[in-house]
Amino acid sequence: MTTSLTELQRLAEKFETAASEIRDRASWEALRLEWTGRKQGLLKSLMGRMKDILPEERRDYGQGVNRLKVRVEERLGELGQGLADAERKAKQGQRALDVTLPGRRPEIGSLHPITVVNREIEAIFTELGYSVADGPEVEDDYHNFEALNFPPGHPAREMQDTLFLENGMLLRTHTSPVQIRTMLARENPPIRVICPGRVYRNDNDLRHSPMFHQVEGLAVAEGITLGDLKGTLEAFVKRLFSAETGIRLRPSFFPFTEPSAEVDVTCPFCAGGGCAVCSQTGWMEILGSGMVDPRVLAGCGIDPDRYSGFAFGLGIDRVAMIKFGIPNIRMLFDNDERLLRQVRI
Ligand code: DAH
Repeated sequence: MTTSLTELQRLAEKFETAASEIRDRASWEALRLEWTGRKQGLLKSLMGRMKDILPEERRDYGQGVNRLKVRVEERLGELGQGLADAERKAKQGQRALDVTLPGRRPEIGSLHPITVVNREIEAIFTELGYSVADGPEVEDDYHNFEALNFPPGHPAREMQDTLFLENGMLLRTHTSPVQIRTMLARENPPIRVICPGRVYRNDNDLRHSPMFHQVEGLAVAEGITLGDLKGTLEAFVKRLFSAETGIRLRPSFFPFTEPSAEVDVTCPFCAGGGCAVCSQTGWMEILGSGMVDPRVLAGCGIDPDRYSGFAFGLGIDRVAMIKFGIPNIRMLFDNDERLLRQVRI
């Protein structure tokens, strides 16, 4: 081998040794400049020496320099890639371990306003000795109307805007059918239950949604009077709203109670003084109630000469709107997170 080829060989070995010692970006950069630098790089000057090489050796020399160039570029490329990978990993590692960064707050869900109110109502009545009962949302005419003393063709049926199903069933228009189911299922009074649940009516505007929530209450025992109804409801609204809340009973009509009363609470926003929320009346209607009609008791196998009872039906959505100051019932069912996030228990 000629001197120049031997020298190429030696330089190649030197490069491999230097390359194997690269540990960081700075030494890699220095080696890259030393070899491939445009102006003073070793490869460049090896090429430049071509003219000094004996003509018969030029071909071998040229090929040798080329091979070396390919090898140098390939190896530098590999090493550069390796360094870049290591740098990226190091950065990620730092990120995972940086305990000084602020923590990420976990998203905690909140209860729906209806659920909050529902739970409160259940808690209050459970303390008063009531149990919680459940009934089907798809009902039959008997439980939703007939047993509640709505005779066929009675105008009170039409007030309920019933949604009928094709199979002759209907979507319950109130939670009162659960009264019937409870009385039919129990052996004997005393009975004290509340029945919360969804109800449906063909009705849809700012104050009405085709699906809404009610809670039915029923107490049947010997000697129950209208005074018990009033006392129970008074205790209930004071717990639900505030100790200052008062109620008033207005005579009304429901087929399944006699006498019947609609119940208003003093407006929680103005304490009865009159404001925009209560249309200056100082009162808000929240439920219907009354003494269970003797015909309803008898229809459920309960002797009306021995037992009496009261019942009430409360709009849960309405209570939630009042408690949380929600102006439009549909906001309760849009599932807008901005509203849901504001409810905290
Ligand atoms: N079911 C009635 C309604 O949806 C509300 C109601 C009124 C329930 C009087 C009762 C009651 O239990 O006694 O309009």
